[in-house]
Amino acid sequence: MSPSLLVTICLCIFFLSVNANEVTVGGKSGGWKIPPSSSYSFNEWGDKSRFKIGDFLVFSYEAGKDSVLQVTREAYEKCNTTSPKASYTADGNTKVKLDQPGPVYFISGTQGHCQKGQKLRLVVYIPHVSAFSPAPSPSDGPAVAPTSGAAKLISSFGVVGLVVGFWAFF
Ligand SMILES: *[C@@H]1O[C@H](CO)[C@@H](O)[C@H](O)[C@H]1NC(C)=O
Repeated sequence: MSPSLLVTICLCIFFLSVNANEVTVGGKSGGWKIPPSSSYSFNEWGDKSRFKIGDFLVFSYEAGKDSVLQVTREAYEKCNTTSPKASYTADGNTKVKLDQPGPVYFISGTQGHCQKGQKLRLVVYIPHVSAFSPAPSPSDGPAVAPTSGAAKLISSFGVVGLVVGFWAFF
């Protein structure tokens, strides 16, 4: 195995591990279901975590009895299941990759569930790449802005590394 290939593989593993974060909706013992009491809200749970691009949301529910719809803000507010952006009806373990910054909205696709509070809104952030950029000083303005270019650069390096790695391997 050539040293450059080894370095490439290490870099790729590093980038993957930096990017992949799986978060179970509602917490480990929670799950994607009608909240047990009206005082519980998925948004309260969502507000406690910071989600970034590349993270995965895991919706855990009883297979065949529920589903996950990714919807617009309007549909989220009205619990409108008519034309979702994406619809997931998998085996009870739906994984959704967060691939865009900004707010995302999910509701249950099962009749009546969204109205009873089975809905989630959260905000996706652009990840910080603090290992590769100097720590932003307080005068830098919004913390997410200066790192976005760097994040793109780093992730494209990851892809290039992967391609070069495979090329070197074969
Ligand atoms: C639900 O959404 C669809 C498509 O966006 C729309 O045609 C319909 O009028 C909406 N229904 C309600 C009750 O808002």
